[in-house]
Amino acid sequence: MAGFSVKGFIFILLIAILVWSSSIENCNARRGSHWRQSRADSASLTKKKGRNHGSSNGHHQGRSRGDGAKQKSRSPPGKGYNGPKKKSPMPSKKGYNGGKPTLFNVLHFGAKGDGTTDDTKAFQAAWASACKMEGSTVIVPSNFEFLVGPISFSGPYCQPNIIFQLDGTIIAPTSFKAWGSGLFQWLEFTKLKGITVQDVNVFPGHNPVFDLSHWQISSELREKMPSIKPTALRFYGSYNVTVTGITIINSPQCHLKFDNCVSVKVFDMTVLSPGDSLNTDGIHLQNSQDVLIYGTNIACGHGISIGGLGRDNTKACVSNITVRDVVMHNTMNGVRIKTWQGGSGSVQGVLFSNILVSEVELPIVIDQFYCDKRLCKNQTSAVALSGINYEQIRGTYTVKSVHFACSDSLPCEDVSLTSIQLKPLQERYHLYEPFCWQTFGELSTPTIPPIDCLQIGKPLTNRIQSDYDSC
Ligand SMILES: *[C@@H]1O[C@H](CO)[C@@H](O)[C@H](O)[C@H]1NC(C)=O
Ligand SMILES: *[C@@H]1O[C@H](CO)[C@@H](O)[C@H](O)[C@H]1NC(C)=O
Ligand SMILES: *[C@@H]1O[C@H](CO)[C@@H](O)[C@H](O)[C@H]1NC(C)=O
Repeated sequence: MAGFSVKGFIFILLIAILVWSSSIENCNARRGSHWRQSRADSASLTKKKGRNHGSSNGHHQGRSRGDGAKQKSRSPPGKGYNGPKKKSPMPSKKGYNGGKPTLFNVLHFGAKGDGTTDDTKAFQAAWASACKMEGSTVIVPSNFEFLVGPISFSGPYCQPNIIFQLDGTIIAPTSFKAWGSGLFQWLEFTKLKGITVQDVNVFPGHNPVFDLSHWQISSELREKMPSIKPTALRFYGSYNVTVTGITIINSPQCHLKFDNCVSVKVFDMTVLSPGDSLNTDGIHLQNSQDVLIYGTNIACGHGISIGGLGRDNTKACVSNITVRDVVMHNTMNGVRIKTWQGGSGSVQGVLFSNILVSEVELPIVIDQFYCDKRLCKNQTSAVALSGINYEQIRGTYTVKSVHFACSDSLPCEDVSLTSIQLKPLQERYHLYEPFCWQTFGELSTPTIPPIDCLQIGKPLTNRIQSDYDSC
């Protein structure tokens, strides 16, 4: 290309960008967006310009909310223009990886965030880009409400350590069409190595949520999909999973589910759902190891549940689970382990600590006879439970403080209770006494109420586990 035409081209392009960016400015002012968006936007603008980043890192502070794909095809000459106008600090090294931008704002992939346009495809596109980059971040900006259908952020071929940054709100579709004949989850993260779903910003009026309220009130869905209701957020087959700072509201089924995951951290989470909702576990764990859940607030629903494990004679392996500093209000269960008869494998090393319950029907539950309405016949094989520790479980209950129903063939071993203080909501009601069946272990301190039914020590019969049973 001749020098002249290049100059001309650059000139025209600069004018175009000037006009374009000032119009965007208005748009943004109207929408009340703030610095977070601009920071995120900058990443998309710099896409494919990695080779320049050393010298021009600070010059990509476009405050536009354009389509990422279009941005990419803009030619480099425009890149320096927005520099002087920038308000926000640089994304710094954080937004880059070997010179390549690692922040992927869904707005740049065509998401509208108006609460009515279906943004599923934009989320898919943002994910597809983020997936290719180690340590990348998908940004869901605040002040927007994204309507997103059932989606799988799937990763067998993704780079490790991706962050899904939720600053805005994601709402679920209410039409039957979007859900088809029923799906087991709304948003699924699968087969990832290092996935974080987070909100890290705390400021007034900032309330990032996964909101399924509309799902709940959609009569169409209630009528047409009576049985299969989706879990809000499901993690499957992943390592190093972190969920923090988010709120999930009104999930029709389970709110947060981990299945076949290793090394999971959940903290500063809030789960809200209506009192009449059915089978809404706040947090549900299945076949996972090394899990730490703390600083979580659960209102309504079924509380925190490990299981149901061993369904249809399957093998379950759950170990090293810690649940601490959790507040539960008006839930059906507090902390529960449930297994089906006929399963195999084990649950080993569980600590429930500092759980504050209020108006919870059954704060402490082990149920090895779990049966989901169907008729379940008695079977001898069971998922073996051992090393289940409860400490500082306090508050009020409305039905029964402790319910331990362990397998006849494989009694629960090493169940320990320390500093349990559970009082009936209203003293005058006669409620059920603590219940234990085939449960062995120790009381480290006196408990309120007294849990005399726990059998101190070990079961007499040695438990025989086949190789198949061991995890
Ligand atoms: C999980 O994280 C730890 C610590 O950051 C790391 O050493 C390990 O390799 C990660 N595991 C996987 C499977 O990515
Ligand atoms: C148990 O899980 C915690 C939290 O995920 C982890 O830090 C710890 O290393 C695990 N312990 C063992 C013995 O694997
Ligand atoms: C199964 O076992 C439980 C506990 O031992 C017992 O109460 C129940 O009657 C049995 N049910 C059947 C169908 O045998």
